[in-house]
Amino acid sequence: MAGLVLALLLAGLAPAGAVWPQPQLVREWPGGGRCRLSPARFRFGYASSSAVGPGCAVLDQAFQRYWRLLCGFGPAAPEDARSWEPLCTELLVSVATPHCDGFPDMDSVESYKLSTSEEPFLLSSESVWGALRGLETFSQLVWRDEDGTFYVNKTDIVDFPRFAHRGLLLDTSRHYLPVRAILETLDAMAYNKFNVFHWHIVDDPSFPYESTAFPELSRKGAYSPATHVYTVNDVKLVIEYARLRGIRVISEFDTPGHTLSWGPGAPGLLTPCYAGSIPSGSYGPVNPTLNATYQFMAELFREVSTVFPDFYLHLGGDEVDFTCWRSNPEIRSFMQKMGFGQDYAKLESFYIQRLLNILSSYGKGYMVWQEVFDNGVKVKPDTIIHVWRENAGPYQQEMARVTTAGYRALLSAPWYLNHISYGQDWQAAYQVEPLEFEGSPEQKELVIGGEACMWGEYVDVTNLTPRLWPRAGAVAERLWSNETVRNLQEAYTRLAAFRCILLRRGIRAQPLFTGFCNPEYSGF
Ligand SMILES: *[C@@H]1O[C@H](CO)[C@@H](O)[C@H](O)[C@H]1NC(C)=O
Ligand SMILES: *[C@@H]1O[C@H](CO)[C@@H](O)[C@H](O)[C@H]1NC(C)=O
Ligand SMILES: *[C@@H]1O[C@H](CO)[C@@H](O)[C@H](O)[C@H]1NC(C)=O
Repeated sequence: MAGLVLALLLAGLAPAGAVWPQPQLVREWPGGGRCRLSPARFRFGYASSSAVGPGCAVLDQAFQRYWRLLCGFGPAAPEDARSWEPLCTELLVSVATPHCDGFPDMDSVESYKLSTSEEPFLLSSESVWGALRGLETFSQLVWRDEDGTFYVNKTDIVDFPRFAHRGLLLDTSRHYLPVRAILETLDAMAYNKFNVFHWHIVDDPSFPYESTAFPELSRKGAYSPATHVYTVNDVKLVIEYARLRGIRVISEFDTPGHTLSWGPGAPGLLTPCYAGSIPSGSYGPVNPTLNATYQFMAELFREVSTVFPDFYLHLGGDEVDFTCWRSNPEIRSFMQKMGFGQDYAKLESFYIQRLLNILSSYGKGYMVWQEVFDNGVKVKPDTIIHVWRENAGPYQQEMARVTTAGYRALLSAPWYLNHISYGQDWQAAYQVEPLEFEGSPEQKELVIGGEACMWGEYVDVTNLTPRLWPRAGAVAERLWSNETVRNLQEAYTRLAAFRCILLRRGIRAQPLFTGFCNPEYSGF
C-alpha cells in the first residue's frame, strides 16, 4: 500500500525537466538561479567560434523543430506575469568540425557540453550529431510553473553516449507501417537519443520494398502493390528524415529463410518442397544450389547497397528451417556432391558465405543474426553479430562466445518489446546490463550496443506507438547513460515525466502506472 501511494505521488509530482536518458554529468547551480524563457522571443543561433553556420541543414532544421517544440508546450503566460525575473533569449551552438552534409555513422562523435548558467546559453560539440543530442537535452530542461511561465534553471551538462550503436528495429512485413508512422517513430527515437533505425523491411508475409531491379517482388509480394509498398521516394524520405535527426538507417533483407513473400515475384528462387517424390506445391528457403540464385542476390544487393547509404547492411540469416531442403531430391544430391553429409547447416553456411562475398565486393560491411556465427560461417573480422535468442541458453553466454571469437556484438535478446506483460515490464528491460557476462575488458570493448526490437506479428499502426513508448526509453537510457544509473524508483520518476513530454509532442506514449500529465494527450 505504501508503495502504491508513493508511486501515485511520484507519477503526479514528476518534476518537469528531468532529462531522459540521464546525461553523464549534470550540475545544477547550488544557489539555484534560473531565467524565464519566452518562446516567442527565444532564438537558436550559431556561435562565432562554430565551424558550421547558417545553411547547415541538419542544424538549421533542428533549430526550427526545437523552437516549435518549445512553443508547443502550451500557451505561455502573459509577458508581464513574471517580468522581474531575468529573461533568457538565446542558445548558441558551436560545432568544432565543419561537416554538415554527410550521414552519421558508427564512429560519429555524439558528445556535447551544454551550459545554461549564463546568457547566451552555449552548446558545444565536436560534430553536428552531438549538437542534435544537446538540443534535445536543452528542450527537456525547459519547465513551466503553474501559471504557465517557462523557466530554464542554471545548469551545466557534459554528456556522451555509453554505446555507439543504440538501435530500434521495426518490422514492416508482418504488418505494413505507413511512412508517417515510421517518421513519427524516428522523431520519438531522436527524443530518446536512439541513433540507429534497423528496418526489417521484408519477411515471409509481405515484400513491401519496391525494387527498381526487380519490380515484380513487391508487385506480387506486397499485401497490396498500390498501397502497401515503400517506393524509391518513400525510402529516400525515411533516410533523409533520419539523417536530419542523427539516425542511421540499416536495412535488413533477411535470407535464406524468411523469404516466402519473395517467391511469387522471383520464380525459381525458393526451394520447392517435396511430399515423397513429388513437389508438394509449397516452398521453403532460398534455393542455395543454383547459380541463378546468386546472380539474383548480386543484383538485388547491388541496388540495396546504393539505396541505403550506411556502411552496414543487416543480412539476417536466422531461423532457417531445414525440412524443405531435406525433402528436395536436387538439394540432397547437391549435398552429396559437396560432401556436406546430412549437415544442412553446412549448406546454409555455403549460401551465407557466397552472399557475404557479394556484399564485400560492394565495399559494404554487414551485421547478421547470431545463427550465422553459431553455425561457424566464415565471416569478415569486422562483422557484427546480433545476439537475439532467449531460449538457446542465457544470452550472456552467447555474448561471451561471440566476443571471445573477436567479433563485435550487438544485444537484443532481452529487449524484445513486442513481448508484453501486465505491469511495469519496462523495468526488466531497464535492469539489463549489456556487459554482464564473463569476459575480459577487451571482450567488453567489442560490445557496440544494442537494439530494442518491435516485431510486427501483433503490431500495426494502431498500437505501434503506445507499445513502443515509453518502454523503449528503458533501452535508450541503458545504452546512453552511465552504467551506475539504474535506480528504478528514480528512473520511474524521470520516465513518467518524460512520458508527459512525449504526449505534449504528440506521441501516444502509454502510461507507466497511475497518475496524470498536464496537459494530457490531445491529439485525437
Ligand atoms: C529548477 O529549480 C527548482 C528550484 O529552484 C526545482 O524545484 C526544479 O525541479 C528545477 N527544475 C529543473 C528542470 O531542474
Ligand atoms: C555455376 O557456377 C560455377 C562457378 O561460377 C560453375 O563452375 C558452374 O559450372 C555453374 N553451374 C551451372 C549449372 O551453370
Ligand atoms: C560512471 O559513473 C561512475 C560513478 O559515478 C564513475 O566512476 C565513472 O567514471 C563513470 N563512467 C563514465 C564513463 O563517465
